[in-house]
Amino acid sequence: MPPGRAGVPAVITARGEPDPARAIRTWKEQSVSPEDIRIFLSPPHMSGREAALVSEAFASNWIAPLGPFVSRFERDFAEKVGAKHALALSSGTAALHLALIEAGVRQGDEVLVSTFTFAATVNPIVYLGARPVFIDSEPVSWNMDPDLLAEALEQRARAGRLPRAVVVVHLYGQSADMDAIIRVCDAHGVPVIEDAAEALGATFRGRAPGTFGASGVYSFNGNKIITTSGGGMLVSDNGDLIHHARKIATQARDAGPHYQHSEIGYNYRLSNLLAAAGVAQLEVLNERVGMRRRNFAYYENALGALPGLSFMPEAPWGLHTRWLTCITLDPAEFGVDREGLRLELEASGIEARPLWKPMHLQPVFAEYESVGGDFAAGLFERGLCLPSGSSLSEGDLDEVASCIRAVFRRAARRRTFALPRTAADLTHRPA
Ligand SMILES: Cc1ncc(COP(=O)(O)O)c(C=O)c1O
Repeated sequence: MPPGRAGVPAVITARGEPDPARAIRTWKEQSVSPEDIRIFLSPPHMSGREAALVSEAFASNWIAPLGPFVSRFERDFAEKVGAKHALALSSGTAALHLALIEAGVRQGDEVLVSTFTFAATVNPIVYLGARPVFIDSEPVSWNMDPDLLAEALEQRARAGRLPRAVVVVHLYGQSADMDAIIRVCDAHGVPVIEDAAEALGATFRGRAPGTFGASGVYSFNGNKIITTSGGGMLVSDNGDLIHHARKIATQARDAGPHYQHSEIGYNYRLSNLLAAAGVAQLEVLNERVGMRRRNFAYYENALGALPGLSFMPEAPWGLHTRWLTCITLDPAEFGVDREGLRLELEASGIEARPLWKPMHLQPVFAEYESVGGDFAAGLFERGLCLPSGSSLSEGDLDEVASCIRAVFRRAARRRTFALPRTAADLTHRPA
């Protein structure tokens, strides 16, 4: 059962493999009342092999934040994304925290970071006493705008105070423009950390986002394209970086027979049990990308003609996994705004979420500087993520699309039959 949804029958919410028999089952056909079911945004989707591998981990008694499955998950993952080294961790946030420490981020430093993201990208910057500076998005991929980044870096170079690092985020399954971002950061000698928590399976010119900078971060949170219920991975081609990150993720114990510590450490390693689930999940990553892209294609086909409704673009530089299908609404054309549509979906048992509220608009980060920000603010104002799980059936997708079409039709009828407010309205009344 997806977390936090007590009382929902598992037979429906588990939404297992999309076999043809299930594909057409909707709440009507299962004679369950609509209040009892819900179509989730992005629930976990097991492959069927996880339980066997987790049992194997139990049988071996490697019940610890290390063990054969941790090593295997790291090896398999590094190979999958094309990185030299990988470190399995308890969360993507932990991976970001370690990536920032390895980049040398300290009290009082500046870190330039995408404003259009989830707070987990920024929190570890503040844990370290550093100051985030938020950079707006560009319209091609909705990720960090390399021109604004270049401007911010040039201004800081002129003032003789370069930031300690740049954190670029690859949102919703799509890579940022890594050629341009790496070029401007290299020109100033500033290390890049990639937050690819949402972009496992995507590509940028054939390579995995997360493998271009000094280090890259992934998340296996329950809503991600593959999950270990909670978990993360730090990757790098720099063996020393991963070696040191591994040490401080394990309480920074010095080599030797007794417990000695020369620096501050953390307890950030991934459990061998969860790594076993991760190994099984990674085996089906390509299929999961295929299903997420199928969801997008379905929605695009069913809704693409509705006036005022647009989809997140796929940038020309790579594969977008469509981890989440994101739309934006122009209320003047669509007839309803983003929140109006979200509430209508909610009333039909369909979970949809506004796009990320940018970090420069978050009360907790109000004191920090922002470079631009209007583009990301507009996305938040107008954007919605639709149910996108890889286990959605065609019946589910149809329910979501039908609900959105019905909302549009009702709004159009309201406009057509709206009472004329002025004499001019009367003379120009639609036929
Ligand atoms: C963009 C982004 N960064 C970081 C994280 C943090 O990952 P985790 O939840 O594994 O700590 C997430 C997701 O939760 C995310 O979406």
